Amino acid sequence: MSFEPLVASIDLGTTSTRAILFNKLGQEVAKHQVEYSTSAQVGSRKDSPQIISSEGIAITVSDDLQVEVSEEPTLNFPKAGWVECRVESILANAIQCFAACLISLEKINITRDVPYKVTSIGVANMRETTIVWSQKTGKALYNGIVWSDTRTSAIVKRINAQYPAEKLESLRQINGLPISTYFSATKFQWLLENVPEVKDAYENGNGDLMFGTLDTWLIYNITSSKAFVTDVTNASRTAYMNLETIDYDDELLKFWNIDRKKIQLPKILSSSEVYGHFALPDLTSLGYTDLGLSKEAAEKLESVKGLPICGCLGDQSASLVGQLAVRKGSAKCTYGTGAFLLYNTGDQKLISRHGAVTTFGYWFPELDEKVDGKNSSKPQFALEGSIAVAGSCVQWLRDNLRLISKAQDVGPLASEVDNSGGVVFVPAFSGLFAPYWDSESRGTILGLTQYTSASHIARAALEGVCFQTRAILKAMINDAGASADFLDESSKITGQTPLSILAVDGGMSKSDEVMQIQSDILGPCVTVRRSPNAECTALGAAIAAGICSGLWTSLDDAVTQISKGNKLLVTKKDGSQVDNDFHATLSDDQRRVAWVLW
Ligand code: G3P
Repeated sequence: MSFEPLVASIDLGTTSTRAILFNKLGQEVAKHQVEYSTSAQVGSRKDSPQIISSEGIAITVSDDLQVEVSEEPTLNFPKAGWVECRVESILANAIQCFAACLISLEKINITRDVPYKVTSIGVANMRETTIVWSQKTGKALYNGIVWSDTRTSAIVKRINAQYPAEKLESLRQINGLPISTYFSATKFQWLLENVPEVKDAYENGNGDLMFGTLDTWLIYNITSSKAFVTDVTNASRTAYMNLETIDYDDELLKFWNIDRKKIQLPKILSSSEVYGHFALPDLTSLGYTDLGLSKEAAEKLESVKGLPICGCLGDQSASLVGQLAVRKGSAKCTYGTGAFLLYNTGDQKLISRHGAVTTFGYWFPELDEKVDGKNSSKPQFALEGSIAVAGSCVQWLRDNLRLISKAQDVGPLASEVDNSGGVVFVPAFSGLFAPYWDSESRGTILGLTQYTSASHIARAALEGVCFQTRAILKAMINDAGASADFLDESSKITGQTPLSILAVDGGMSKSDEVMQIQSDILGPCVTVRRSPNAECTALGAAIAAGICSGLWTSLDDAVTQISKGNKLLVTKKDGSQVDNDFHATLSDDQRRVAWVLW
């Protein structure tokens, strides 16, 4: 081959967008990230947080992180509990990031005998965030309503009062989800009831109104054919999809007042197939004038016109794949804006009895074509425990309380004290998700005394996230039919348990201090294992695209190659090698005190 193939991954997160080019060993070759401007930052922070790259892996990074400079913030908090995003600027950021990677690649290629070449594109995205737009103009009729937005709690309350519990339970058996502000269906219901443009477009019933999550919005806008698609992992978060038929369900659509003659829903496809081919969108026509693509960037993007876009996963499913947690029984927790623990249940659809949701892990039917595709070509399920607030709590400590100036400072601040000094912080800014599903609850800080310091509050905030992880793990173990005893302080380590290792990744996992707190809270029977790859979400989308475009011959091949490229041991600056595992260090007494507090 006269070139070395790479896969481009575009990851649309809740607080930033990034593009990363991966090689066959799953190593990052180039990367660019834009952190969104937010309405909470106005006049507060000026710093540019640094990206910490995984040690031991050769990474060439362009200007790796840029904080967006924009008159109109991408992320807005217009009222208490409301979170909106400007979807045109997320699209523009994605294009900017991809272009920056291509520019870096040109520089890298000068030094190489065999040049790199991008052969396909994969997409990962924050899920549930709901967008409606006009097919005719391409313009969104309202800002994207972000997954963590709680404006629909009155709708949730109304539904709970209106329908008997059995009816709601029967719907959950179809889509695996409780009634919550979290999923797209309540968000669209709110748009219909509150935004005249959306109501009119819907009532006109001329089929101009389009509904989508961010994957659909991006793929629609960057494919020459205007592909109107979504993948199973994203579709399973709308509340409209039947997990058995892998299609929209008439009963669910009727319940959520969706008349398909009045609104177009994207076609549900697998996570790994050709959705369309890359073409640069006309952002000016969408009313986004400040894209500011340089001539060089525009040329680079033109040169990759026609690349297949052939991988798509909701970000939490993507990180399950990127963590290589592709075997039944493996689990991962990604600490992003929220934290999301997914437990792989293989091709078995488990409906939780303890507050977890059922979701799709991934579906790579391309493997049917491959020799060793085995059962992986069937849709793979996961049980998910979703925590609404994780990194966003750190962001809140930084931007709203101004306790820290950089997110990375939170671990050291919290570690200045051995415990929270009796402070309990419940970061329920968006209600409580799994396993509690309480849309009405709000954040609380309890136990303040004159003695309380910023360190106690920071520590209590981190513990608030980590205790929810523990509650979710316990719920899932119960669902999986195993005993949850091993999480209790009285338990003894008795060999292998179904969840003896929790693979972790995402922003907060980079902090040794935070992961030690997590490990202490989970207790001695669970090893917290930080992924050697800092960008599991983007890697998962790259795997989906790379399997389709032939970079890897099978999922097994991808796992083998990527394991070679990302060693579990990391080399420190002094040359010593350490693992990335965290083990509980608390005594039984200390643990008991912590449990009682929560
Ligand atoms: O369901 C919401 C989730 O997809 C958001 O992920 O990484 O932005 O917290 P993240």
